[in-house]
Amino acid sequence: MSLTEVALPGVGVVSITEVSEKVEIPDTGSIWDDWGEYDPAAKDMQLRRWVVQVRDAAGETHLVGDLSAHSVWYGPSPGSRCMNIGIALSASWRGKGIGAVAQRLLAETLHADGIVRVEASTDVDNIAEQRALAKAGFVLEGVIRGAQVRADGRHDIQGWSHLPGD
Ligand SMILES: CC(C)(COP(=O)(O)OP(=O)(O)OC[C@H]1O[C@@H](n2cnc3c(N)ncnc32)[C@H](O)[C@@H]1OP(=O)(O)O)[C@@H](O)C(=O)NCCC(=O)NCCS
Repeated sequence: MSLTEVALPGVGVVSITEVSEKVEIPDTGSIWDDWGEYDPAAKDMQLRRWVVQVRDAAGETHLVGDLSAHSVWYGPSPGSRCMNIGIALSASWRGKGIGAVAQRLLAETLHADGIVRVEASTDVDNIAEQRALAKAGFVLEGVIRGAQVRADGRHDIQGWSHLPGD
């Protein structure tokens, strides 16, 4: 059975909830998702979305960030469909361990849905996300050269993955 929430000492209970539309959460922007321009074809990318919530000691629930996942196909057979995930937290909720917990919860959720390989990619310079992925149990696979263009140009990214049991 997959976990649905995790108690994070000093922070609260972290959970993720799937949503059908993007939910606007304040102040989640960062240099890592400053895309500059959108390719019109990107609208065909089918994204599943989740919100990240924290229930504090007083019982109040805070919307602190969002997660997404899109399919990556390594072949036409059903087992060759993997999911690549992304995350952004509100600036005031970063650095508390929530990113690691939320990505772990999403990997477990996708495994429970039958997805064996869950991927995450992040800039070679995004140390916070690299630390969060490692804490979430993801394994670094290597550098994916020249894969991503953002407002400031083309970037190398790291490829990470999470398999059941990681
Ligand atoms: C990346 C992100 C999801 C990580 O979530 P988080 O809750 O802040 O991360 P955690 O608290 O779980 O872990 C952060 C780790 O990075 C470390 N860290 C943060 N900034 C760092 C830096 N500049 N250099 C080195 N380590 C850093 C923290 O010390 C912590 O590691 P530790 O627990 O081993 O000490 C969150 O910071 C965020 O939303 N950032 C902006 C958007 C983004 O980068 N999204 C990912 C794009 S691929």
